[in-house]
Amino acid sequence: MKELESPLPPIVHNQVSEVRSLFQKYVMPTYGRFDVALSHGAGSYVWDVTGKRYLDLGSGIAVCSLGHAHPEITEALIEQSRRLVHVSNLYYNAPQGRLAERIVSHLAPGKVFFSNSGAEANEGLYKLARKFGHDEGRFEVLTAFNSFHGRTLAGISATGQEKVKKGFEPMVAGFRHIPFNDLAAAREALSPATAAILIEGIQGEGGITPATAEYLVGLRALCDKKRLLLLMDGVQCGHFRSGRFQSFQRILEGFSGATGFLPDGLSMAKSLGGGFPIGAFWVRDEAHGVALSELLGPGTHATTYGGNPLGCAVASRIFDVIEREKLADNVRTTGGWLQSELGRLVQTYPTVVKSARGVGFMLGFELQPREQIPGMSASTTLPSLQMVNRLHAAGVLTVPSGGQVIRLLPSLNLSLGQAKEGIALIEQVIAACA
Ligand SMILES: Cc1ncc(COP(=O)(O)O)c(C=O)c1O
Repeated sequence: MKELESPLPPIVHNQVSEVRSLFQKYVMPTYGRFDVALSHGAGSYVWDVTGKRYLDLGSGIAVCSLGHAHPEITEALIEQSRRLVHVSNLYYNAPQGRLAERIVSHLAPGKVFFSNSGAEANEGLYKLARKFGHDEGRFEVLTAFNSFHGRTLAGISATGQEKVKKGFEPMVAGFRHIPFNDLAAAREALSPATAAILIEGIQGEGGITPATAEYLVGLRALCDKKRLLLLMDGVQCGHFRSGRFQSFQRILEGFSGATGFLPDGLSMAKSLGGGFPIGAFWVRDEAHGVALSELLGPGTHATTYGGNPLGCAVASRIFDVIEREKLADNVRTTGGWLQSELGRLVQTYPTVVKSARGVGFMLGFELQPREQIPGMSASTTLPSLQMVNRLHAAGVLTVPSGGQVIRLLPSLNLSLGQAKEGIALIEQVIAACA
């Protein structure tokens, strides 16, 4: 306890080049990194190694659901690590069972498998689909163009973006892509081998595109008619980021014909662990007369760390805080305010901002083409990266999505005051480009 109460470590200036050169020498260059070396954080603020403070509107790409250094996450880590950090899945452990119960209580009767990441949670869904269709020779999973499902080999095969596949062919067999929010295209794409359709409720990496209520309900009806599994990837858009536990619950609010809507399987990760690496997938008890949640029986699927007591204790505590502090309501009200402010920026700076979209705390604004933005450099650097760099200089962290979109994925406990601070900084940067 003592160490945690002591002041933050002294800030050592000018470490950036030292940290960067360690990366250049020893870390694989798989990421295009910004020239920022982060040191520590508190709530929605992070500091870099030079002592510069940033308002974090990216939260580690929708991960730090309670912000940085949340005392209750620290407490859960300490308490659980004093008892039991890890046990094999050859044994029962209470934190895993309790977290599974918590997840099921937010969805519907079903069961949960715990993984370590979002890609791995989706892998479980692909295996579920294959097992489901196996005896009828069905194995194919349809996914959407512009989707993102992770970087494993099956993940890039499932992802509907060419750039993640390039150089890694041949892809894993059995994935085909369909246009998002186009029900007729889904219907036409079905083949006798199709076993499932997998979509994100709100496409994240693809540039913040919510599914329409009509699409969700239409896909459900199509899957019911054709005996297919409807699978949803809630890795980025899930865990209250939409203002409800899952984005489909928010999208379908008040939509007639949506009563009782449920996917057959749902993956999650990111905000579930608030920074502790944990993923999961939930499967409903029964679909098409099959006991779906029993389909992956003993010996069919496993992972060493999945559902370890430490990660599950943290994730359960995060649920406690979100519910006690009514953070879903905060996401709805503060997210609504942010969204209307982004709309105002579109109106005020039409030469810079083309559109704004999203739900809750999963928001994005799209930039105009580079050559049309008066204050943007004609360099080869993508407009989104130029904007994110300028926002860094102004003291705010955001996340680019492709070349044109800037994402805001703040912590669920971002206050209205912090949202106002963020918009003021963003407006300052946009105004300088107009
Ligand atoms: C929708 C979606 N699915 C899956 C993943 C992969 O998750 P992970 O990086 O934890 O493997 C991501 C990551 O960005 C995602 O946004």
